[in-house]
Amino acid sequence: MTVRLDKYLADMSVGTRTEVKKIIKAGRIQVNNIVTKDSSVKINTENDRVLFDNAPVLYIEYEYYMLNKPAGIITAVSDSKEPTVLNLISSVRKDLFPVGRLDRDTVGLLLITNNGKLAHCLLSPKKHVDKKYYVELDASLTQEMCQKLREGVFIEKNVITAPAELEILDAPVCKKALLTIHEGRFHQVKRMFLAVERKVVFLKRMEFGPLKLDKTLNCGEYRKLNEKELKLLEEYIKDTEMEEICTREL
Ligand code: URA
Repeated sequence: MTVRLDKYLADMSVGTRTEVKKIIKAGRIQVNNIVTKDSSVKINTENDRVLFDNAPVLYIEYEYYMLNKPAGIITAVSDSKEPTVLNLISSVRKDLFPVGRLDRDTVGLLLITNNGKLAHCLLSPKKHVDKKYYVELDASLTQEMCQKLREGVFIEKNVITAPAELEILDAPVCKKALLTIHEGRFHQVKRMFLAVERKVVFLKRMEFGPLKLDKTLNCGEYRKLNEKELKLLEEYIKDTEMEEICTREL
């Protein structure tokens, strides 16, 4: 890809766009071993070699992080009053965003990237991306409730959920379960249980599409997706009509 020199440096967090323009003017940047004082020069991110004070600045187009979201943090890019999930991540790129949303009190797997097309594919209602949650409830589920949850429940007037998988983990108590849904409606899990008169007291996302929460990540910790996970994501979005747009970007 080609990108202006000032954008290249700002994207790689060398400074703000204004700061990098000054750095370029000061003659501190070399492109292919030649000092370049023109901010608008086009850089080929694959072939050109950019140095800042003689140190190479490699271009990273996309970043992908798996965060184990802690409770009490909002899923947003920024907020004037409180910290967001992005404040937990220290990254090169400053254009990251969370893919989808978890409630403030929900913990677990959250994908964070700056790849908009990938996010679009994963969030598309057409794609029916599986989301697996570990749920703890205030009271036991009956067989009848389990059946309703599996078949579909009305979470509001005229809105019925699609079939879901429910696995009870603590029979015969039936207050702990794994629920896999294939859609992503607002507060869906909590509203599904409310539809059978049960309150979710703890909610943790374990899986999102082909990604599984890394058990070694403590709450609030994150890491880059590894090659295997990137490959899984690529394969996962391949079988959609959006394959072409999505895989091009990975
Ligand atoms: N469903 C919910 O109710 N809350 C979440 O955070 C995620 C899914």
